[in-house]
Amino acid sequence: MNDINKVKLIWEGKRKPDRGESLKADLVDLEYVYPHGIRDLNYGTDRLNILIQGDNIKVVQKLLQKGYHGKLDFIYIDPPYWSESNYYSRVEMRDQGKKFFLSRQVFKDMWGQNINNYLQHMYTALVLMRELLSDQGSIFVHLDWHAHHYIRVIMDEVFGPKNFVNEIIWCYGGGSGTKRYFHRKHDTILWYAKGRDYIFNPQYRAYTDKTLQRGLTRVKGDKYRLNEKGAMMQDWWTDINKILSPTARENLKFPTQKPVELIKRLVKAASLPDSLVGDFYAGAGSTLHACEDLGRRWIGCDASSIAVQTSMYRMIKGRFAPFKVQELSEGREDKKDNILLVKKPMILERNSDRLKVKVEIVDYLPSSDNRGKVPKGISFSTLIYFWEIDPCYDGKLFTSCYQIYREKPIFDDNISLACDIEVPLAANRIAIRVYDIFGDSITVIKEIP
Ligand SMILES: C[S@@+](CC[C@H](N)C(=O)[O-])C[C@H]1O[C@@H](n2cnc3c(N)ncnc32)[C@H](O)[C@@H]1O
Repeated sequence: MNDINKVKLIWEGKRKPDRGESLKADLVDLEYVYPHGIRDLNYGTDRLNILIQGDNIKVVQKLLQKGYHGKLDFIYIDPPYWSESNYYSRVEMRDQGKKFFLSRQVFKDMWGQNINNYLQHMYTALVLMRELLSDQGSIFVHLDWHAHHYIRVIMDEVFGPKNFVNEIIWCYGGGSGTKRYFHRKHDTILWYAKGRDYIFNPQYRAYTDKTLQRGLTRVKGDKYRLNEKGAMMQDWWTDINKILSPTARENLKFPTQKPVELIKRLVKAASLPDSLVGDFYAGAGSTLHACEDLGRRWIGCDASSIAVQTSMYRMIKGRFAPFKVQELSEGREDKKDNILLVKKPMILERNSDRLKVKVEIVDYLPSSDNRGKVPKGISFSTLIYFWEIDPCYDGKLFTSCYQIYREKPIFDDNISLACDIEVPLAANRIAIRVYDIFGDSITVIKEIP
């Protein structure tokens, strides 16, 4: 055995990853979402992409128990970096011509100044995620200067040093306050494969003007020609910037949101059309968006309700493929006291096979733990992130066939509160679900008169 296989990182309390054999919680469907507006009956529910809210260690344990072993060709994760910081999403609210800002805590990268907890979490996550990978699969782990050196040693242990493929350096611009050292303007993405037969589709960049003018031949001799596709990419990237502008189209006001172009480059390089892709620290859903653009199937997971709702909004607004939302639940209901008032549905038209019905929200009150955070006098509509309608609720699973949202992630009082929907004659109940700015949701069921 090569000596490098024996190099291991040790920390206080290092233990074998828990496989979750005694895990009580299960993955429970919260809703099926059809962002094209109408339920596409040809789209089998076993093909739905999956967005899961819950702690990723338990979620991956559960996925492995449910048969996802070896099923994913590609995993990208952008976990906490051991930065000992709190991360907030600061959103703009506009109401009756006035502007307000509201900060919502999204996640904590706090480990009590104790790196052991962080390393144990990452070790467990990496061991479990490796098992999800197919024989041709790869994992990309996005980190920065805080801990990438430790994680690389852990990945050598988990994946084997021979399966290290690249250390990608992503360079970006932007300001920095320090005068004490060089500004830290790059992240490190560690790429490890499951085995030697990993998928790789080379990516190319345009030749520089100088190379184009000169050609390759002058330096390398007559037998070399410029490649039609461009120059093969290296492992340091300077051509994709961070999402810095608050008005950038892509900006979902989610802290640490990564540019979709960056993730698309990775997905293109190391997966195939129709590959199943996972991101278990999904945040604002950048990987899910990349998969939608590239025709890959996906599983996303995040512990934060604000992250899951941001991803839902992104998938809905992009009119992407149908997906299901699940949560890891132990069966206990965590009841919130938010209140939604909906008018009695009004029948506008009666046809031979369906009704046209008007659904209208009349009031919304956030849960008592959030009411104090709302600026005085603000309209309730400003607090709604988006809302959905299931036109023939079966009493069990909410199926979102209509979604009402704003085009920009600015919370103003312009979101529509009424929607005309088509309801099959056989239906007798409509369900209305509201997601609010604080990450809470509520469902109200109305009988069709
Ligand atoms: C750096 S952000 C990811 C940003 C994402 N790449 C994007 O482009 O939006 C890290 C995310 O990991 C989530 N997270 C942290 N610990 C987690 C855990 N144990 N299980 C699931 N999600 C977790 C946080 O809620 C946060 O949304």
